[in-house]
Amino acid sequence: MAGYLFEPTRIASNLAQTHHKRSGQVRSGQAQKPKKQRHSSTKKEMQRDASSNNTYNYGDVVYWDARYLQESASTFDWYQRYSALRPLIRHHVPTSSRLLMVGCGNAVMSEDMVKDGYEDIVNIDISSVAINMMKKKHAHISQLQYMQMDVRDMSFFPDESFDNVMDKGTLDSLMCGTSAPLSAAQMLGEVSRLLKPGGTYILITYGDPSVRFPHLSRASYCWQITLYIIPRPGFERSASTSSSPAKSLLEPVPISENGLLPADFVLEDPDSHFIYVCKKMDEAELACSTSHLLMPTVV
Ligand SMILES: C[S@@+](CC[C@H](N)C(=O)[O-])C[C@H]1O[C@@H](n2cnc3c(N)ncnc32)[C@H](O)[C@@H]1O
Repeated sequence: MAGYLFEPTRIASNLAQTHHKRSGQVRSGQAQKPKKQRHSSTKKEMQRDASSNNTYNYGDVVYWDARYLQESASTFDWYQRYSALRPLIRHHVPTSSRLLMVGCGNAVMSEDMVKDGYEDIVNIDISSVAINMMKKKHAHISQLQYMQMDVRDMSFFPDESFDNVMDKGTLDSLMCGTSAPLSAAQMLGEVSRLLKPGGTYILITYGDPSVRFPHLSRASYCWQITLYIIPRPGFERSASTSSSPAKSLLEPVPISENGLLPADFVLEDPDSHFIYVCKKMDEAELACSTSHLLMPTVV
């Protein structure tokens, strides 16, 4: 359980750092320029969060509402843009899928996915400010729907409503809140309930397997988990490693049955993002599975 005590500080600081790095990255032209740049108060706010050890507000609707009010009309994608994730998402999620984007915020991700052919994306967020803003902005895009909802209680939707659930930074936010383990269990229980058999939950997170596997590997979810790792945007490989070919994003990273990275595994970018593709096993797969419902790509 000690991990739970330490994780919020680390993740919150990572969330804050990512925000700064992303701003720098946008300036360097490696990502698409946001429609409107965030003003400097956002940066100061995040710095204050990190330096004052105020680690719990990312799990709090009051924090997000205030933040989106302050940044009304701007857009921001945490961690990664769709263009970087596209190979992996297209590989795992057919464009005809019914998708649920949990904690959509004011990200461009869903809009980019529609431009790439995705036909049906329901976006939810706990922040009514973000949802109202996005609803208005995307009223003309019939493929996008927006609803204010807490990811821990999505009882509005019947069981097995979605082929895919996409989460970029939302479980991480909950992990920074109070009662984090309970919130995570409520959220993931709901995600599992909403997935059709054979459907996938794609989690893009700062959490390495030592802190995410305990949450994802509950037998009741029946998830087959594959891990991918992607460096943060703008990461430059060091001279010593750049002679070897860069790993493809589509190359899964082996993990042990306990959900650990191999002992000799080198994380080129220590601030990499982890992508867990959790496939809800269908009846045939369940019948074939052994007592271990968790089936990582074994080392
Ligand atoms: C780190 S931001 C990520 C936003 C977006 N997914 C992206 O990639 O840019 C986390 C988002 O989760 C939302 N959120 C936090 N707790 C939530 C909850 N219990 N239910 C639904 N959304 C939540 C926040 O409002 C915020 O928009």
